[in-house]
Amino acid sequence: MKHLLKLLDLTGQEILDILNLADQLKYETKHGIPHPHLQGKCLGMIFEKSSTRTRVSFEVGINQLGGYAVVLGAEGSQIGRGEPVQDTARVLSRYVDGIMIRTFGQDEVEALAQYGSVPVINGLTDFCHPCQVLADLMTIREYKGSLEGLKLCFIGDGNNMMNSLIVGGLKVGMSVSVACPQGYRPPQEILEFAAGYGDKFELTDSPMQAAKDADVVITDVWTSMGQEEERQKREAAFAGYCVDEQLMAQAKPDAMVQHCLPAHRGEEVTDAVIDGPKSICWDEAENRNDWPEQRDIGTAGVPGFERGIDAEELLAETVEEHQPRPVRGGGKEFEHQRQVIGQYALHGLKSGVPVQLVQARQSTPKPGIVPIPMPCKGQAALAVHIENGDVLLAQAGK
Ligand code: CP
Ligand code: NVA
Repeated sequence: MKHLLKLLDLTGQEILDILNLADQLKYETKHGIPHPHLQGKCLGMIFEKSSTRTRVSFEVGINQLGGYAVVLGAEGSQIGRGEPVQDTARVLSRYVDGIMIRTFGQDEVEALAQYGSVPVINGLTDFCHPCQVLADLMTIREYKGSLEGLKLCFIGDGNNMMNSLIVGGLKVGMSVSVACPQGYRPPQEILEFAAGYGDKFELTDSPMQAAKDADVVITDVWTSMGQEEERQKREAAFAGYCVDEQLMAQAKPDAMVQHCLPAHRGEEVTDAVIDGPKSICWDEAENRNDWPEQRDIGTAGVPGFERGIDAEELLAETVEEHQPRPVRGGGKEFEHQRQVIGQYALHGLKSGVPVQLVQARQSTPKPGIVPIPMPCKGQAALAVHIENGDVLLAQAGK
């Protein structure tokens, strides 16, 4: 059974696989291609903290997959009155097909997975925010084409967002530099993990140092949910840890800014930066539409993808009828791309439209990490287009 409890549990390749599939589901949604892989399935959502993005995006996401959601808040349920998580897990598993939980302790999420018998997704704990960071990485890759070798910088609290960005960034081949005040550093478990990546990880108390030559600068609130009583103390401790234009001048000229939101404008980020040309916060929020998370709701992943027909097989079957030309860049490392292409072609055939597979030309993207089928913004990439009912593999323009 697949859970999504923390990014520490996933390999770098598993993270990239989720991003590939997320790109595919996003493409399908944007092009009106139905993907009811979770038809009739119910997602239970438990919120012990507030939420706008997670709440809405999960509910929309499960509906796009053909399922539906039941929402439980701490108030009005027995969870808020202290019913043990083990009992909640056992009982909810009898009603629903998957559980998303937003709560305080990571141990609560782990216990839910241990005692329940359905997949569990972490929708934020004090320790980590894996769904958000999958969406962050997805967004960075849409702009940059690949993640490997980029420098990610985080300015702020050694809390859920910083923890997940350190783990996710390092696992997909980025270098990660974080700045936080003494006393607000990430927990030992995260620092031990990061120590395994040598000089690809940097921890400093200087925001300027962390931002130097960064490709993406990310921040989060100084006072997270549940820490409200510490607000004054934190405002003093984090003074100077603001992503403003002066800090952004340290980063690369084409550096981007992310914030998981909600933002406290004027504290961790200025209006000029979050509303400015470097901000990709709204694309980032859009990618919380839970394309990354949708994959984890089904016990065996999204079956449509796993059973995706390989484009080369499709070519062999349809060559007489459609006279398609071979897809270039074959081989194991392009399996994902071929399966995606095959799926769209299959969709076209099933809908009774003619299918044409056009040969990809030069600038074959780096295998395994290119977002197919969404073309990278501002870069050439392979993409599948459906035009006039035809399924085309084409070269996306610059
Ligand atoms: N970024 C995020 O998780 O937002 P919500 O708290 O609104 O869900
Ligand atoms: N660090 C923030 C993230 C909100 C999405 C919090 O935990 O409140």
